Parts: sequence; C-alpha cells; structure tokens
Amino acid sequence: MNDASIVLGIETSCDETAAAVVRNGVDVLSSVVSSQVEIHARFGGVVPEVASRAHLESINPVIGRALVEAGLGPHSINAVACTVGPGLIGALLVGVSAAKALALTWRVPFVGVNHHEAHLYAAFLEDPTLEFPLVVLLVSGGHTMLIEMLDHGTYRLLGRTIDDAAGEAYDKVARYLGLGYPGGPAIDALAGHGDPRAVAFPRAMMTREGANDGLDFSFSGLKTSVVNFVRGHPGAATADIAASFQAAVVDVLVTKTRRAAAQVGARGIVLAGGVAANSSLRAELAEACHRDGMRCFLPSRALCTDNAAMIAAAGWHRLRADGPTPLTIGALPNLRLDFV
Ligand code: KG4
Ligand code: ZN
Repeated sequence: MNDASIVLGIETSCDETAAAVVRNGVDVLSSVVSSQVEIHARFGGVVPEVASRAHLESINPVIGRALVEAGLGPHSINAVACTVGPGLIGALLVGVSAAKALALTWRVPFVGVNHHEAHLYAAFLEDPTLEFPLVVLLVSGGHTMLIEMLDHGTYRLLGRTIDDAAGEAYDKVARYLGLGYPGGPAIDALAGHGDPRAVAFPRAMMTREGANDGLDFSFSGLKTSVVNFVRGHPGAATADIAASFQAAVVDVLVTKTRRAAAQVGARGIVLAGGVAANSSLRAELAEACHRDGMRCFLPSRALCTDNAAMIAAAGWHRLRADGPTPLTIGALPNLRLDFV
C-alpha cells in the first residue's frame, strides 16, 4: 500500500446504497449515492427488511457506476473499503459481502470501516490541511457526540446524548407535525418561513456543572415539549413551531460545541453527520466561530449525509495505520468508536 492508492468505498449501513472511488484518501474520482428515501417514506421511517432488499438490487449497479464515472477499470483499484458497522445488520451484510467478494476477486486488501469514523473523515476530503486537535460535532440519525480528534484514528469522547439523537428528534417532531420522512430536511425548509422566537422551547442541560462538564445532550424533553405545545395550541403555525424547535436544537448544539473547543484548546471545529446539513446549524456555528476567532469547517451537504467517499477516505487511513482487515470479520451492527 503506498500513497498513490485508489480505494473503492462501499456504504450500505442504513438507507443509502453508495459507492465511491477516492485517490490518496482525498481526491474523489466518483461518488454515487442511491437513496431509498422514497421507498421508506410511506412507512414513516426506515424498514430494515425493505432496506436490505433495496440494497441487494442497487449494490452492483451503484458500484459499476462508481467505476465508470471514475473512468477506471477494476484493475486500477488498490483496495476495497466498506462500512462494517454500526448499522442495520441485513443492510450492512449486503455491502460487506460485496466488498469482500470484490477484494478476493481483484486480489486487493479489504478494509472494514467504522461508519462514525467515516463521518469524521468527510471533512478531510475537502480540507486535508485541518490541524489537530479538532472538536467534531457528530450529529446523525442515531448519534449525537462531541469528539476530540487528537490525531488520525485517535479520539476522545467529550460528550454525547443521554437519550435521543438530534436527527432522531428532528425525525420524531417532523412525524408529529405531519411533515413526513426524513424529518430533518422538512423542518429545515419549513423553519425558514417561521419565527424562531415564537415559542421558547427548553434548552436541556445547558449548565456547565455535572453532565460530563456540561458537554452531554438531551433531546427527548424537547420533543415532548413540542407535542405538549401543539396539543395546547392547535391553531399555532407549524412553521413557527418548526423554527422554534430548530432554534432550541441549534442553540444547544452550538453552545456545547464552542464550550468543548474552548475546554480542549481545539485548533478547529468540524461538523459531521446528516444533521450537519442543517442550514441554521451551519450558519449559527460559522458565525459563532467567526466571533471566537476559531477555525470552522463545514463539509458540503452531500458529504454530511451518508456517502461512500467518506468510507473510502477513512478506509485509506485505516489501511495505512492497521493494514488489511481479515475477511473473517462480519457485519457489526453495534460497533462503537474506540476512545482513548
Ligand atoms: O448521517 P445520516 O445521513 O445517517 C445516519 O448515519 O444516521 O443522518 C440522517 C439524519 C436524519 O435524522 C435526518 O433527518 C437528518 O440526518 N438530517 C437533517 C438534515 N438533513 C438530514 N437534520 C436537520 N436538517 C437537515 N437539513
Ligand atoms: Zn451516517
């Protein structure tokens, strides 16, 4: 494995079938994402069995397209990286099986990638000059974490949600407001037409005391507050509720991320995960960082939500650090990040 390696990345942990070809861990030659959003929308959320079957149908065409768009034949691929967890077991197995088969056939290394670690690497695809230590706010459908990235592959957990993830809160509130699935983009769009000061929803665990130096999160009380408010005010404008809910989420996320960066003396702040595509979070964090004189990096929206370019990038770093992953590894639905 040398610096000129070309990695095929594969991602099937949830409801996107994705493949990408990345050179040297940073140069994206192709990135193909086939979303199942429309398939799951009528159920109001991801149905695991339906997701696995959709991945099976899409995986070969998506990989084929990634190779064609990169302008490369299979013999140019130096390694195959694939998400091994966390995620839905049946969904993960589709990608892992395809990746292992290709690695065996092409006689190249296979690299198992942690989906969370890959989200952290999305930022490096667009700015390889980012300097450590970095504070990363990882906000997705399943997780909300503040992570200190000390070096490539070395992470410290600074804070996490004690109940719902931020994306989960978006999805649940959107479903309650009748905005459909996925809820994040729907609330984001509607909030632009509402008044964020219309309802003073609670900001949980905002003090510095206790709760992991004030760096843990809680979003389930906020969701309940929205439900109670709507019951008590049936005539309230949905756009105002969406904007006020979003203001509460973003206020907590930005406050704690700034606090974490100050506590560890970070050289920069990075956003990662699906909720990092949120327009208000991006704008508020950028403005706060500007005021603090802190470097802030917001990956483009397509790299925040699930994609395979970030899998190839993380895989490239893992391969250099640890070498290939044995083909005996399976799908690991509960895989966690290793923290120091
Ligand atoms: O990282 P991701 O694509 O998948 C997981 O690994 O979970 O994140 C999906 C989550 C969903 O909860 C979705 O509602 C949320 O990210 N999301 C957003 C936005 N776009 C996606 N949340 C708020 N605003 C958005 N624009
Ligand atoms: Zn994700």
